[in-house]
Amino acid sequence: MTKSSAKTIKVITIDGPSGSGKSTAACKLAQRLGFAHLDTGAMYRAVTFQALQEGLNLRDSAKLVDLAKGIDLDLVPTAHGTQVTICGQDVTELIRTVEVTENAHFLASQRDVRDEMVKRQRKLATKLTPLVAEGRDQGTVVFPHAQVKFFLDADPATRAQRRYQQLQRSGQAVTYDQVLAGIQTRDARDSSRPTAPLEVPAGAIVIDTTNMSVSQMVDELVRHIRRIRSILDQG
Ligand code: DC
Repeated sequence: MTKSSAKTIKVITIDGPSGSGKSTAACKLAQRLGFAHLDTGAMYRAVTFQALQEGLNLRDSAKLVDLAKGIDLDLVPTAHGTQVTICGQDVTELIRTVEVTENAHFLASQRDVRDEMVKRQRKLATKLTPLVAEGRDQGTVVFPHAQVKFFLDADPATRAQRRYQQLQRSGQAVTYDQVLAGIQTRDARDSSRPTAPLEVPAGAIVIDTTNMSVSQMVDELVRHIRRIRSILDQG
């Protein structure tokens, strides 16, 4: 599909739990469509990273809101994915550590912090559109009127295996069992938090990626987008 053939679609959202394949699929889909890719998980990770650097109390909502408001955070698209910078410093790898992963839920569960992140995401979207926005609340809260919404899921063992392989590739010392336990804890937290819990957005297409390769996932997303585009064209 070319960029112009998808011109009626401005925002595509992809939500789902960790390891569902949404980050890789969102990145590849955006490349295929010529859309921007908004990795909102990277934003939560970057603010968490900075809070840890500054030794902030991660339960202090007021401090975290100030940080989320003031942080000089940039997401720069590159051929290999999104480069994340804070004050111009490349933190792309640093935000993927186990420490950041395990602490991001403090920010993600605080309503005032989320409100600030949502504002940032909507503001970025005005510059980036058309875009593929990926996270946990993109179709439910941030872009509820997106023309195309996906929810990707996979069984926990498969998701843990994917995360484990990623962490191994980046040289982090963890066992598969630790990764699986982490995924189960984060699933429970993401789904049960009172503010913007992870849930299937109204009108979303749900795809089980358990037995899919990355290219199969992207093909499946593109197939749905073609179908929706032809409906939009007719309307
Ligand atoms: O997708 P990820 O693992 O990079 O997300 C990092 C953290 O941010 C994770 O704790 C879930 C949270 N998150 C969120 O609450 N809402 C989003 N839109 C994106 C991520």
